Amino acid sequence: MRALLCRSLDGIGSLEVAEVASPSLGSGQVRIGVRASGINFPDILMVEGKYQVRPELPFIPGLEVAGVVLECAAGVEHVRPGDRALAFARRGGGHAEEVVVPGAIVTPIPDAMDFVTAAAFPVAYGTAHFALTHRGHLAAGETLLVLGAAGGVGLAAIEVGKLLGARVLAAASTAEKLAIARQHGADETINYGVENLRDQVRALTDGKGVDVVFDPVGGGAFEQSVRCVGWEGRILVVGFASGDVPHVAASMILVKNFSVTGVVFGEHSWRFPDDTRARIAKLLDAYSDGRLKPTVMRTYPLAEAIVALTEMSSRRVMGKLVLLPRDHANL
Ligand SMILES: NC(=O)c1ccc[n+]([C@@H]2O[C@H](COP(=O)([O-])OP(=O)(O)OC[C@H]3O[C@@H](n4cnc5c(N)ncnc54)[C@H](OP(=O)(O)O)[C@@H]3O)[C@@H](O)[C@H]2O)c1
Repeated sequence: MRALLCRSLDGIGSLEVAEVASPSLGSGQVRIGVRASGINFPDILMVEGKYQVRPELPFIPGLEVAGVVLECAAGVEHVRPGDRALAFARRGGGHAEEVVVPGAIVTPIPDAMDFVTAAAFPVAYGTAHFALTHRGHLAAGETLLVLGAAGGVGLAAIEVGKLLGARVLAAASTAEKLAIARQHGADETINYGVENLRDQVRALTDGKGVDVVFDPVGGGAFEQSVRCVGWEGRILVVGFASGDVPHVAASMILVKNFSVTGVVFGEHSWRFPDDTRARIAKLLDAYSDGRLKPTVMRTYPLAEAIVALTEMSSRRVMGKLVLLPRDHANL
């Protein structure tokens, strides 16, 4: 099969498309013929050796796929060969013509959802939902601040926040990014490229601060969040797209009774696959009802994977990018 191959941890420029053997099917696993694979910031971290999951070299990056089930191990009953399905692939392998994943996390795709949209769905929406419910306990009527709000997980967090009944403040670095955040349901926007995040949040919350911060960015944005999270607030540490892992003084956490909470959806999905499948199925129902609107900014053939990943690392992406490992004609 054709696959995007990482032979050394020298970053996205050293990736290449190569012919490799199809992975063998193990106990409890499902083989998917991949029609589309979602690009995520962790793909970049993985091929630089900076991600928490470090597969042995050479490896195929790609954490989420949509396609057609080709083969199921004994005991896998909820999907059959020929079914359209999506899956989260925590250890990578997705940017290829075929992938093998644990059957427990393979989820059927609704009829109305195309493969490209399905491939952009599980990581962004799964992470946002897991973070805001299981880790952040976001309640209806609370105020949510989403940082990096026009990125993949950011846009999903806005939509899931609205679904949960929150008032959503979206923060991003350009006016164009804030416009798309509004289209996805943000009630208020803050351009942290030119405005002071702390002052704007305080102004928009009558000085009370927000209940929950969803932070995939880290660095200075996180540090500002510490200054504008409210009493008993929860700061969700989702990622460090800025490249800067911030620090927080324990004394700050104490004086406002707030929490700094880690979020790692990938590991959670591996430990609790049934919870993950149920979570994704629920989110797919919300998609079918028209309450979630995933945005794919652009698709690329596998051969242009480096171009796509360079767009993401250059901070230019709004919504998601998706790779097409096979010809468009086969979609
Ligand atoms: N914890 C989990 O389970 C989990 C799951 C998936 C992803 N993540 C993490 O979440 C983060 C976002 O992932 P994603 O796939 O949504 O990425 P993305 O679409 O590229 O979004 C990242 C956002 O971060 C902001 N950013 C700030 N400084 C940046 C920089 N130097 N380079 C690139 N972006 C920068 C950008 O927004 P502005 O320009 O508006 O600042 C951008 O929209 C990553 O750190 C990723 O590792 C975590």
